[in-house]
Amino acid sequence: LIVPVILSGGAGTRLWPASREAYPKQFLPLLGARSTFEETLARVSDRTIFADPIIVTGEDFRFLVADQLSRAGTAGRIVLEPMRRDSGPAIAVAAELAAAADPEAVLLVLAADHLVTDSGAFAATAAAGLAAAEAGALVTFGITPSHPATGYGYIRPGDLMDGRVRMVAAFVEKPDEETATRFLAEGYLWNSGNFLFRADVFLAELASFEPAIAAAAKAVGSTIAVDQVGNLSFERIDRDAFAASPAKSVDYAVMERTDRAAVIAADYAWSDLGSWDALWALADKDEAGNAVRGAVSLAGTRNSYVASDDVHTAVIGLDDVAVVATKDAVLVAKRSVAGELKTLVANLRASD
Ligand code: GDD
Ligand code: MG
Repeated sequence: LIVPVILSGGAGTRLWPASREAYPKQFLPLLGARSTFEETLARVSDRTIFADPIIVTGEDFRFLVADQLSRAGTAGRIVLEPMRRDSGPAIAVAAELAAAADPEAVLLVLAADHLVTDSGAFAATAAAGLAAAEAGALVTFGITPSHPATGYGYIRPGDLMDGRVRMVAAFVEKPDEETATRFLAEGYLWNSGNFLFRADVFLAELASFEPAIAAAAKAVGSTIAVDQVGNLSFERIDRDAFAASPAKSVDYAVMERTDRAAVIAADYAWSDLGSWDALWALADKDEAGNAVRGAVSLAGTRNSYVASDDVHTAVIGLDDVAVVATKDAVLVAKRSVAGELKTLVANLRASD
């Protein structure tokens, strides 16, 4: 069985103010009734293919995760980080835990905040990468890019390995816009941020590029503490052991540097819901192109995303805006801002 590893510790600042430090976007029902975390659980719910997932998240999110797991009727290991160390260390700890049971266990690393509607095509793509992963490849899932986004990893597909799987000729994380534009013309794919690989292979690659992260993960694996709270069970990562790990994403730590990367072109629709603009694009819209949620009134407004938690929100005579009102914060922005919002939220946090 493939072991799903669901990364659920991000802050989701690009969807502020709906996504908050205490309640980040992966736990919110952004489109439809279920959160993307719940959708992710559903995507790997076929127990003939997938084992119970390992969920790596922050200490603060333990009850959110436990709640949504039980709502999904799914068992899973909830692994709690005492602090954020980015995706590299989070995956490394999950790999150590899986390797303790079976060093050659194949892990499917999933982000909890992505949207994939066709779970059948997704599972088929993962299955198509399994043989390559078992043979020692770090398999990525490539998305055909639509614009020169700077927030993604870019993959140059190389020689065919087997079936739908190609070697990765180059992996470049978050290039500048000029480079991204060139990559688009040269047929690069976006890295979707999901990975399929053997626990032991990943840990060996990590140890060669980032020995401090690998050593910290090993120490964490041997000191993990299981905490039973009623019928809930949490696995707590030791603070000092994890604090010793540098913070680095898996993309910079391993994927840019390994010779073992492979890629399958995804044939399913994918979005990382990385901006209000992306959410607007995917949401149901009225004839005027507006996507609305909650108590909202509009007049003379087109192609906008307007959402309100409970305060009644009216927008008049504006096009292409995102207006998001919550109890204690309101965003009014050009729909297309993304990076600017991330910076603004970082500054807000720094001035707290
Ligand atoms: N548990 C845990 N702890 N999870 C984390 C942490 C952490 O400290 N930091 C990030 N994550 C989770 C996020 O919740 C998300 O599910 C995933 O790891 C990826 O982190 P992001 O911070 O969202 O990365 P990104 O979007 O900038 O870039 C990644 O995804 C892109 C596609 O959306 C990279 O893999 C890019 O190459 C890729 O194109
Ligand atoms: Mg992301």
